[in-house]
Amino acid sequence: MKTRILSGIRPTGNIHIGNYLGAICSWISMLDTIDECFFCIVDQHALTTTEDSKDLRKNTLTIAAAYIASGIDPIKNNIFVQSHVPAHTELSWYFSCITPMGWLSRMTQFKDKSSKNKDQTMTGLFVYPTLMAADILAYKATHVPVGEDQKQHVELTRDIAQAFNNYVGKEIFTLPEPIIKKETSRIMSLRDGLKKMSKSDISDYSRIHLLDDNDTIQLKIRKAKTDAEPISGIIADLENRPEAKNLLNLYAIFTQNNIEKVLKEFEGKLFSEVKSKLADATVNHMEPIRLKILELLNDESTLIKYLKKGAESANSLVIPHMHEIRQSLNMLL
Ligand code: TRP
Repeated sequence: MKTRILSGIRPTGNIHIGNYLGAICSWISMLDTIDECFFCIVDQHALTTTEDSKDLRKNTLTIAAAYIASGIDPIKNNIFVQSHVPAHTELSWYFSCITPMGWLSRMTQFKDKSSKNKDQTMTGLFVYPTLMAADILAYKATHVPVGEDQKQHVELTRDIAQAFNNYVGKEIFTLPEPIIKKETSRIMSLRDGLKKMSKSDISDYSRIHLLDDNDTIQLKIRKAKTDAEPISGIIADLENRPEAKNLLNLYAIFTQNNIEKVLKEFEGKLFSEVKSKLADATVNHMEPIRLKILELLNDESTLIKYLKKGAESANSLVIPHMHEIRQSLNMLL
């Protein structure tokens, strides 16, 4: 069977190395083994959080530039903007007509986000997972690479696919498999090793942005939280030292080493040495990507051309699928 992956990032501000290493790099590692790849910039999902939708245009272009600068070839793969493919919202409506509200109210992301401000919880946030299911199923994607936090949404997508098939009495959708990324690609906050690095953390020092310049990267790593002990050479010791574990893990990733080797290198050393080497390794890795992003953003029309080309191939795949879906729903064609 032909394999097809679809994944996406919400174009919010503050894209950081956690998104880069956790999402983009894990996609890149799959490019050679998967037949067809679709990488979406899910701008309509960004509208579910008002603070994220302010700079939507700029953030959409930045994510597109980040995909390309990180090594996703926009000619070989399909990089596109969700709102350029109308099938997503259409299909999400059909899904919302067969998805019980109970399923949506059990989603932990909805529970977390809506508990902060119950009166101002919008319908879009509630039906967010039906749009995500549409993103995936409109393409009949076979695999969906996501972080652990999105696993529940992919499982719901499978339930929706099954419910739809049952409803129309036909195997329209095959159930997509989630590909959950490795634990080592889970990058933690620089201020608290137990919290995931996050776009919404109030502290800028908790994360390294893709557009941070070299001095800012150096400064943020210098200020990163640590504990008072020197590094021990034993891997199990890291379990109770989340900040040390995170910094050493980042160093291992940026120097393409395994953690055992990194522990040997730093055994008995102080954090000042780890930080200085990590800062250099981070700058070495991220600087060319930052410069490439800036170059792409400087030539907006070329970037938009890539996105239009991506939308064209996305549309040409999903238009026949949508025809089949409408037909299965007994709509007048
Ligand atoms: N909900 C995902 C997130 O917040 C983003 C997303 C939207 C997505 N549609 C998708 C991821 C489809 C994978 C496939 O990270």
